[in-house]
Amino acid sequence: DLVLHPPHYPWSNNGLLQAFDHASIRRGYQVYKQVCAACHSMKFLCYRNLVNVIMSEEEAKAEAEEALIEDGPDEEGNMFQRPGKLSDRFPNPYKNEEHARSANNGALPPDLSYIVPARHGGADYIFSLLTGYTDAPAGVKLMDGQYFNPYFPGYAIGMAQALYNDLIEYDDGTPATQSQLAKDVSTFLAWAAEPEHDSRKLIGLRTLIILSLFLGVAYYMKRHKWTTLK
Ligand code: HEM
Repeated sequence: DLVLHPPHYPWSNNGLLQAFDHASIRRGYQVYKQVCAACHSMKFLCYRNLVNVIMSEEEAKAEAEEALIEDGPDEEGNMFQRPGKLSDRFPNPYKNEEHARSANNGALPPDLSYIVPARHGGADYIFSLLTGYTDAPAGVKLMDGQYFNPYFPGYAIGMAQALYNDLIEYDDGTPATQSQLAKDVSTFLAWAAEPEHDSRKLIGLRTLIILSLFLGVAYYMKRHKWTTLK
């Protein structure tokens, strides 16, 4: 069998009480935007979701305005394009599925909004997939437009290697090695699928603290009320 199971990586958000690495989310958005967005939509993300996580509200407005959003029909019944607003979703790089397939040798790039929970292995799998391209072993035949990746179920994937050392330049100056790019985009994709992750863990912690105080109070009251009984 040529297919490998991804190893477990020490993501900053693995622990019960640990949060996402936000600098990594921000870099990962840069990778998504400059590399993956050419082929992959993220139709459940709006520009407003970037506010206070990846950039300020002003910056997110400017970011949205850079995108051309399909809108309409207008009074004459025509579709038109306009600059984006905070309430707009990220644009789809393709008009429809046929267009997407014809641009990718018949393969369909999946929407990445929920790809981390959708795939067995989650962020470990995404990271391994993006860094795992190698030459096909001797004797393995691939069709046109297929590439060998031992982490992809079936190993023949319709996506070429997307990440290389220094493919982009990070705004925060972090050296953009292939593994750094893959780590950051995996973190961004994990955040996108679960933006409530950090507050969920924080609220869970507070709930445990408050409930454990109640436990002490309940124990004291039980002893108090029952002293005369028994
Ligand atoms: C499939 C991620 C860039 C084209 C996939 C899959 C993931 C992914 C997670 C799903 C694999 C599976 O089904 O388990 C990414 C990321 C990118 C990126 C994070 C940026 C770093 C690109 C680019 C293109 C592309 C630039 C087009 C040139 C495709 C296609 C598939 C695919 C066609 C379907 C492959 C198949 O089903 O055989 N990608 N991708 N991807 N991607 Fe990408």
